[in-house]
Amino acid sequence: MKGIVFTEFLTMVEGSFSLDMVDTIIEKSDLPSGGAYTSVGTYSHTEIVDLVTNLSQESGVAIPLLLKTFGTYLFHSLARAYPDFVQKTTDPLDFLEQVETYIHVEVKKLYPDAELPTFECSRPHSANELHMVYVSNRHMEDVCEGLIIGSLEHFGAHCSITREEREDGAELFVITKIE
Ligand code: HEM
Repeated sequence: MKGIVFTEFLTMVEGSFSLDMVDTIIEKSDLPSGGAYTSVGTYSHTEIVDLVTNLSQESGVAIPLLLKTFGTYLFHSLARAYPDFVQKTTDPLDFLEQVETYIHVEVKKLYPDAELPTFECSRPHSANELHMVYVSNRHMEDVCEGLIIGSLEHFGAHCSITREEREDGAELFVITKIE
């Protein structure tokens, strides 16, 4: 997993909790990297799982809520770091479709070792209702929901989000525009 994910996570922890909390969770986690992340480095995604688990224990905040909140925070960081990727459209559902067809494609060109999820997108009922099936063996469904929430905030969109696990283990997100 790319270092930007870790550096943004620790920046969020510092801002929402404290620098002491950052030190505590790094010490409590068994991190091959030792917790010294650079934004261009690559680290095992299990390190983020360890850090979040310890943050949950230390703060009493449930893991899914921490991951979702982090996803939203991360979206705004990514949008700042890669402004071109959020400028192709002003429509939130078109943007979400572009994550698979454009944004992550470009990310893979920039970082060939990036580990990205796959999204199968469709609008089976209406142009205002986007279905996104998230597939990743890293199972970051909660981070994914947070990233979707961050996208909708970015575009100032009023949408509802529902999610359900399909029988094959993939997560279906349904994002519906509220008129
Ligand atoms: C400006 C927009 C975006 C950029 C630049 C971006 C870029 C990235 C990067 C660099 C990673 C880390 C890859 C790695 O660590 O190896 C990542 C992971 C991920 N991205 Fe995006 N992303 C964007 C928007 C989104 C949105 C809107 C979603 C959700 C619909 C999304 C879903 C994910 C998920 C869930 C992961 C975690 C890896 C996994 O689940 O396998 N991304 N993205």
